[in-house]
Amino acid sequence: MIATNTRVKARIQQLCEEINQHNKNYYQLDVPKIPDADYDDLMRELRSLEKQSPQFASHNSPTQRVGSAPLNSFQQVEHKTPMLSLDNAFDDEEFEAFDKRVRDRAGTTDSIEYLVEPKLDGLAISLLYRDGKFVQAATRGDGKTGENVTENIRTVGAIPLLLSGEGIPPVLEVRGEVFMPVAGFDALNQRAIEAGDKPFANPRNAAAGSLRQLDSKITATRPLAFYAYGIGVIEGVELPITQQILFERLSNWGLPISDQVQVAVGASRCHQAYESLATKRSLLPYEIDGVVYKVNNLELQDKIGFVSRAPRWAVARKFPAQEKMTEVIAIDVQVGRTGAITPVARLAPVFVGGVTVVNVTLHNEDEMRRKDVRVGDTVVVRRAGDVIPEIVSVVLEKRRQNTVVFNMPVDCPICGSEVERAEGEAIARCPSGLLCAAQIKESIKHFASRRALDIEGLGDKIIEQLVDRGQVRTPADLYCLTQGQLSALERIAEKSADNTLLALEKSKPTTLAKFLYALGIREVGEVTAKSLAEHFGNLNALQEASLEALEEVSGVGSTVSQRVVSFFELEHNREVIAGLIQAGVNWPDESTTSPVETALSGKVFVLTGVLSSMGRDQAKQTLQLLGAKVTGSVSKKTDYVVAGENSGSKLKKALSLDITVLSEDDFLKLLAIH
Ligand code: IVH
Repeated sequence: MIATNTRVKARIQQLCEEINQHNKNYYQLDVPKIPDADYDDLMRELRSLEKQSPQFASHNSPTQRVGSAPLNSFQQVEHKTPMLSLDNAFDDEEFEAFDKRVRDRAGTTDSIEYLVEPKLDGLAISLLYRDGKFVQAATRGDGKTGENVTENIRTVGAIPLLLSGEGIPPVLEVRGEVFMPVAGFDALNQRAIEAGDKPFANPRNAAAGSLRQLDSKITATRPLAFYAYGIGVIEGVELPITQQILFERLSNWGLPISDQVQVAVGASRCHQAYESLATKRSLLPYEIDGVVYKVNNLELQDKIGFVSRAPRWAVARKFPAQEKMTEVIAIDVQVGRTGAITPVARLAPVFVGGVTVVNVTLHNEDEMRRKDVRVGDTVVVRRAGDVIPEIVSVVLEKRRQNTVVFNMPVDCPICGSEVERAEGEAIARCPSGLLCAAQIKESIKHFASRRALDIEGLGDKIIEQLVDRGQVRTPADLYCLTQGQLSALERIAEKSADNTLLALEKSKPTTLAKFLYALGIREVGEVTAKSLAEHFGNLNALQEASLEALEEVSGVGSTVSQRVVSFFELEHNREVIAGLIQAGVNWPDESTTSPVETALSGKVFVLTGVLSSMGRDQAKQTLQLLGAKVTGSVSKKTDYVVAGENSGSKLKKALSLDITVLSEDDFLKLLAIH
């Protein structure tokens, strides 16, 4: 027992120190070193140890405090009423326990009416208005004393300097969140990178860093926004009955209020509101990290009261974390279909953004160097919406001694050829093409994939064995496989060997577009393959086409033309094509007549997120039939972005470029009239 006690005491002390340091990093220096979710875990552990052994809990513990002391560089402002923090409910049960406590304190068994608000991810601010005139702004600081940031706040366009409308109180302290919308954040970081400066880790830091500038001219250049979510001091007017009516008043006086606020009565409606906001999360133009539930009735709020650091009438429910820490177990190098050499970090499994992540690409050498990820490092992994997971940064404080800088290999790890990196290119490549087993494997996987010749049952593991055994070197070899060869492979039953042969047979009739795509010509994706097929109509014409003729094809520029010409120039490629045709792969000639003109002809679409009424392929085909083009990335040339559920970065980009965004409903309507 004594031993356990000593250990608990020591752990509590260690947690306090660690959390205090993180508080300082986050609140004062605006450079948090660990993700919020990992910070929350430390706080939870501390809270639970203090509950279990209250004799070791100090009144200075971070569990008893809000934020961190203000910086000395700004004048200090005493808050007339403390600026509090919020307790968290981590799941439905914890929210239900909160709701039960509220009902107990309210002395009722009736369902409670809550206002459900987005939990904005920025920093808390207090704005003081006298007779409707903005006079002072202060950060939260440690809750009692904050920093005077009045001059900086004056530069934030969303914050009115004069209130308008009826019944403005002589003294009004508005509280709310200053934040940076995602589009503004992306643009700011882009500028920072171009200028050789360090980009901000996330919009919250960028907002905090921008507001804490000593020179308000700098703040003025930062795209900050603001939503009010409550009041501090108010004098000379009666309080309304509910938080909701308070919001209406604030809004009438010209203060911005989030349009995502809703009323929910009882726990199950509250859960629904949480789920619905979680689905919308990636569609919003600003980051939110959860919802805040507040008892709607202000008298009831008053009756329920506060504990030292947080109100008892409100609770935050965070969304699943999009950033988490984990460890890099190894760094491998992968060789892709076109010889691209990509470093990949193997991670201790980490649950982030709703999935377990074990691998994450490090893209290329420059990115590797910039992030300096090493084996054994603790890293922050981010997965937001439908975006592929990435390593945001290394937690340098946790770097062990003796870690070594990772260097890209000089030779291809598969075939040993010397790796090349063309000038001005970020990607290093193995130049051996189809002499490199990795590139053979990847090109055959691509050939057999669903969007190409769609050879069902010919999975990656089978292809790898066939290439390793020297039985397949080109896609044409696939069609010479025998039942015996297939059933001799590991992990393949006799029946599935038969099925694979059948699938090979079934794959032979195809289209010219699919065949071209399956060949894996560099830069020729599905859309380009389709344009080429439509333009030239048959393979011969394409093979003989000159650079100039190729450039006439819509969407084909000089790089693609060059790649196509080089591909067909290679004897090996011509042989593979001849082999495939001889094996019976066939397609009808395409008619080269131009499609019927529709109002969508030539319009450029990007599809993102999940559509509930049709698959993405189907949506794409339908659009193409109507003469529209479907591309993979959003640019100024994009006409429409169709945003299904869980749309992520593409939607954000569309919004930042002011491109028309269609919901699934809008999209279906558009298809219906054409
Ligand atoms: S109410 C007395 N409402 O979250 C209640 N806070 O974790 C205090 N926040 O310091 C806050 N969105 O910076 C409230 N709709 C919202 C919020 C919100 C974001 C922030 C705020 C606060 C922190 C507490």
